Amino acid sequence: MHAAVVRTAGTPPEYAEHPTPLPAEGSTVVRVTAAPVVPLDLLCASGSSYFGVPRTPYVPGVQGVGVAERSEVLEPGTRVWFATSAGMKPCDGSLAERCLVVDDDLVPLTTSVDDVAVAALGLSAVAAWMALTWRGGFRAGETVLVLGAGGAVGQVAVGAARALGAARVVAACRSEASADRARAAGADRVVLLTDDEGQLAARFEAALGGTADVVVDPVFGTPASAAARVLSPAGRLVNLGGSAGDRATFSSAMLRSGSLDLRGYTNNALTPAQRREALTALLRHAEDGAVAVAHDARPLSEVADAWRVQQAQDAGVRLVLVP
Ligand SMILES: NC(=O)c1ccc[n+]([C@@H]2O[C@H](COP(=O)([O-])OP(=O)(O)OC[C@H]3O[C@@H](n4cnc5c(N)ncnc54)[C@H](OP(=O)(O)O)[C@@H]3O)[C@@H](O)[C@H]2O)c1
Repeated sequence: MHAAVVRTAGTPPEYAEHPTPLPAEGSTVVRVTAAPVVPLDLLCASGSSYFGVPRTPYVPGVQGVGVAERSEVLEPGTRVWFATSAGMKPCDGSLAERCLVVDDDLVPLTTSVDDVAVAALGLSAVAAWMALTWRGGFRAGETVLVLGAGGAVGQVAVGAARALGAARVVAACRSEASADRARAAGADRVVLLTDDEGQLAARFEAALGGTADVVVDPVFGTPASAAARVLSPAGRLVNLGGSAGDRATFSSAMLRSGSLDLRGYTNNALTPAQRREALTALLRHAEDGAVAVAHDARPLSEVADAWRVQQAQDAGVRLVLVP
């Protein structure tokens, strides 16, 4: 079959011939119809992540959409979303014509949302949803601040907060193009980032009309430091990524005086059932148009280019590869 193949950790995959996966007990062979290139794919393939150096050659791709072909648990032809451990454990992933998927990592799909749009949502959307609702403990009527709001996680966090009854949703972005995506996702106000923490906190406060009950934070660094300064008493900041930096500073007086909560989130801590429920709930909102991730479909043969674009953070939209 054709697949994206990483031959050396730290270099982009090439489009090449690769052995077609054979059926195995407890797993399903999926014919892949759409798979996104996401930050986690690049992190895993970098060889410098906390998952260690991946065994090579391997097919990257931690998620995808497709059709079950050979399965002990699903009728052949069942439409599925699936997750893989490619780059985290020695196995092949979704950026291929076929993928062998552990049965627990399959989510049957009944949604009218098309395959490419489901693939664009995927794990980024699950992370946004669970960071907001589960780790963030969001309740209708609360005010939400979303950092990195023009990215995939951010767009879904904005849309989900809106759909679940937020009183106000404020988005933080680096560029006007990102701001446009955040507005399209449903943000009431957009704040452009600045490196000056105090000035940024003042911008947040003005846009929020006061404080935020929940901050969804895929970027950390200065934006997170500024966002923590505008949390309401007992407010929650949920961090799920470090695009702006691996470190941020917070004042002890501020944390304790407000009984603030700084929380971390990873999809890897979810059970398969939690992940399935989150994706299913999200897809119901996606059918209504309430949540979506801006995306662009490309042929799988263009994987090396798509990889470089994601690496340079130049895409602006989620790139979804179609075999
Ligand atoms: N913990 C988890 O389970 C989990 C799950 C999914 C994703 N994540 C992480 O969440 C982060 C975002 O994922 P994504 O899927 O939304 O990625 P994405 O679609 O590629 O978006 C990247 C986001 O990072 C922002 N960004 C990049 N560099 C930045 C900087 N120097 N300062 C401020 N913002 C910066 C971008 O802002 P602009 O749009 O304004 O340029 C954009 O919002 C990644 O770090 C990813 O690894 C974590």
